[in-house]
Amino acid sequence: MSTDVIRFSEPDISEDEVEAAAAVLRSGWITTGEECAQLEAELAEYVGIEHVVAVSSCTAALEIAVAHLGLPRGARIGVPTWTFVSTAMAAYHRGLEPVLLDIDPVTLNLSETSLAAALDGEPGLDAVVAVHFAGVAVPKSIHDLCHVAGVPLIEDAAHAMGTRDHRGLIGGRDTAGCCFSFYATKNLTSAEGGALATDDPELADFARSFRLHGLSKDAWNRYRPDAKTLSYDVLGDGLKANLPDVLAAVARVQLRRFDELQARRRKIVDAYRSALADVPGVRLVPGEADPDSADHLMVVVLPEGTDRGAVQASLQAQGIGTSVHFRPLHTFGWFAEQGVGPGPGGTPVADELADRALSLPLHPRLSEGDVARVVDSLRSEVSSPS
Ligand SMILES: Cc1ncc(COP(=O)(O)O)c(C=O)c1O
Repeated sequence: MSTDVIRFSEPDISEDEVEAAAAVLRSGWITTGEECAQLEAELAEYVGIEHVVAVSSCTAALEIAVAHLGLPRGARIGVPTWTFVSTAMAAYHRGLEPVLLDIDPVTLNLSETSLAAALDGEPGLDAVVAVHFAGVAVPKSIHDLCHVAGVPLIEDAAHAMGTRDHRGLIGGRDTAGCCFSFYATKNLTSAEGGALATDDPELADFARSFRLHGLSKDAWNRYRPDAKTLSYDVLGDGLKANLPDVLAAVARVQLRRFDELQARRRKIVDAYRSALADVPGVRLVPGEADPDSADHLMVVVLPEGTDRGAVQASLQAQGIGTSVHFRPLHTFGWFAEQGVGPGPGGTPVADELADRALSLPLHPRLSEGDVARVVDSLRSEVSSPS
């Protein structure tokens, strides 16, 4: 048996990214500046949206989008329970009360039924964050429900660079902001980083100020030789969440390579889908291949009663990394202690799947042979559980 390690995730960094970062390091300007501005323009063009503001993480982008809503403390924001902690934490930091919603059993995306019940509840919701889970867009019906209720919808697109929906490539059109992540495991990475994309010039201006302490002028504008004014004001209680040029340069190269990297991901997902088709009792997420997906994760639902921890440990012993997306937020003690819990109707689907979802290795550096090895190991785990 091969003992090569198959990592759950691995950034595809070429010499071009290395050279781009090195060039910035040698340039005399290493924090937010021209590279960042170029990245913003290129991303805006790629996703087809008017404004992109680069920030230090998707978490920061989410917090900025939530802050921009200007809701009072204690306002209720619907968040799927099936997400990374930061989706709810960003709202919590701005004094909002996350209301944890259930998921659709096929896509593990936000459930329409759960959202509708929470919007109709007493009290209802004041805002919603939808996560495009694993690179598959939430359906138009989620947008429609929010629109009819007059409730702003923020997009957590940490998994969704390159995802398409009824609007085209996802990028914040007609929503209260679209938040991307460039974290190391993402399909476009700068190690750490993120961006807020929007068609709202006012939100874009707010984000430019909020990412740098709420200052009226950013450092680039203050220090550049042709700066018109060296003074600045404080406009709000912002974050320190700008993206340095060293990282922006890496992201720019990743964006140039993005279509090629995504094509490779699609090949791997196709290979997984055909190899997993005859693994007994294992269900793929989503059930059918979605041509508009960004193929961010390869999630399977294990047969009921499987000891997922034992499967993960056994695969790890064979040199195969896996992950879990996600542990539902309402199962974390801290959220419960803060009174953050499920909305009306509870979270029966998330509860049923909580111990069964497993994310298999997925990144552009995997070979078809790696995929076969992962699937063979999984097959033997589920057919003869330890
Ligand atoms: C759904 C989701 N939202 C938000 C984030 C946070 O992204 P970042 O690490 O860029 O803050 C992640 C990170 O993995 C995520 O998976």
